[in-house]
Amino acid sequence: MTNPTLPTLPTVRLGNDGPAVGVQGLGCMGMSEFYGPTDTAEALATLDAALEAGVTLFDTADAYGSGHNEELIGPFVRANRDRVVLATKFALERRADDPAYRGIRNDPAYIRSAVDASLRRLGVDVIDVYYMHRRDPAVPLAESVGAMAELVAAGKVRYLGLSEVSGSELREAYAVHPIAALQSEWSVFARDVESSAVPAAAELGVAFVPYSPLGRGFLTGSFAAAEELAADDFRRSQPRFHGENAAANLALVEPIRRIAAARGATAAQVALAWVHQRAQVHGLTVVPIPGTRKRSRLAENTAAAAVRLTAEELALLEPIAGRVVGDRYTDMTFTSAGRE
Ligand SMILES: NC(=O)c1ccc[n+]([C@@H]2O[C@H](COP(=O)([O-])OP(=O)(O)OC[C@H]3O[C@@H](n4cnc5c(N)ncnc54)[C@H](OP(=O)(O)O)[C@@H]3O)[C@@H](O)[C@H]2O)c1
Repeated sequence: MTNPTLPTLPTVRLGNDGPAVGVQGLGCMGMSEFYGPTDTAEALATLDAALEAGVTLFDTADAYGSGHNEELIGPFVRANRDRVVLATKFALERRADDPAYRGIRNDPAYIRSAVDASLRRLGVDVIDVYYMHRRDPAVPLAESVGAMAELVAAGKVRYLGLSEVSGSELREAYAVHPIAALQSEWSVFARDVESSAVPAAAELGVAFVPYSPLGRGFLTGSFAAAEELAADDFRRSQPRFHGENAAANLALVEPIRRIAAARGATAAQVALAWVHQRAQVHGLTVVPIPGTRKRSRLAENTAAAAVRLTAEELALLEPIAGRVVGDRYTDMTFTSAGRE
C-alpha cells in the first residue's frame, strides 16, 4: 500500500524498449561497504521505504561487499518481484585477502559464471538490467556484449547495460545488441561524461543512470575531507577528497549550499535537480541512483525530482565541475574519460 503523504515519482522508460522505472532509483552499495558502518535492519527498512516512495530501480553489483549486497537485497526483491526493476553488474573481481583489489574481467566464460552466481545470491531467475561494470580494453567489446546478448536469449537477463564506457564504446556495443542504460558518474561536480558518453546515449536512445549524483556525499556536506572518514572508507582513495584538494573543492561547491538555503531545499536536492535538468539539455532520459543506507533520506531525495532550478541558479552551478581539483579515481583508466 502506498503512503498518501509521499509524492509518487514520475516514471520514464530505460532505453528504447526497456522497463518503465521511477525517475530516481536507489543505489544500494553503501548498505554493504565503502561508506562507513552498515546496519542491516535499517538497510532493509530503507528498501521498503524507497519502493513506497515510488523508487523502482534498485542498483547493486556482485562486487559490493563481494556478494553481500546481492544477498542483502535478494529477499526484498523476491517479495516485490513484480514492482522492482533489479539491476546488478559483473566485471569487478574482488579478492578476500586484499579488499582494495579490483580485477576487471570481461571474457565470455567469466560473464557466464558471474551471472549464475548473481542469480544464486539474489535468489531470482532473471535479472532485469545486467551491466558490465568496467571495461577491459584487452577483451574485444563485441565478444563481451555478444556473451551478454546470449544471456538475454537464455532468459537469464532482460536488458543490457554498460558502466563507464565512452561514446564510441557505447556505439560499438549497441551495434551488437540494444543497450538499455549507461551507468557512469555524473554530477554537478563530475561532468567528464558530457564530452562523448552523454551525447552518444542521447543519440542512441540509451537511458543514462548517473551514479554518485551526490558526489559520494561531498555535495551534501556530509563530509568535508577524506581525512575525517574511517580508515576503510573507499572515499579515502579518491584524490579529489584529499587535503588541499578537498578544501578547494569544498569552497567550489558552496553555491549548492547557498542555493539550497535560499529556496528552502537541501543541498542533496539541488545536486539531484541539477542532474535531471542537465539531462534535458542533452535530450536524454536520466535516472539518477543516489545511494543511502537510511530511511530518513528517502523523502528528501525523491522530492528532488520535482525541484526546478532557475536559469540564474544553473548559471551559478555551471563552472563548478571545470574547476574541481583532483581526479575522481586514482587510476582514471578505470573510467570512460581515461580511455577517450
Ligand atoms: N557503476 C559504478 O561504477 C558505480 C560506482 C559507484 C556507485 N555506483 C552506484 O551508484 C549508487 C550511488 O552512488 P554513491 O552511493 O557512490 O554516491 P552518492 O549517491 O553520490 O552519495 C552517497 C552518499 O551520500 C549520502 N547521502 C545520501 N542522501 C543524502 C542526503 N539527502 N543528505 C546527506 N547525505 C546523503 C550517503 O550517506 P547515507 O548512507 O548516510 O545516507 C552516502 O554517503 C551506489 O549506491 C551504487 O549503487 C555505481
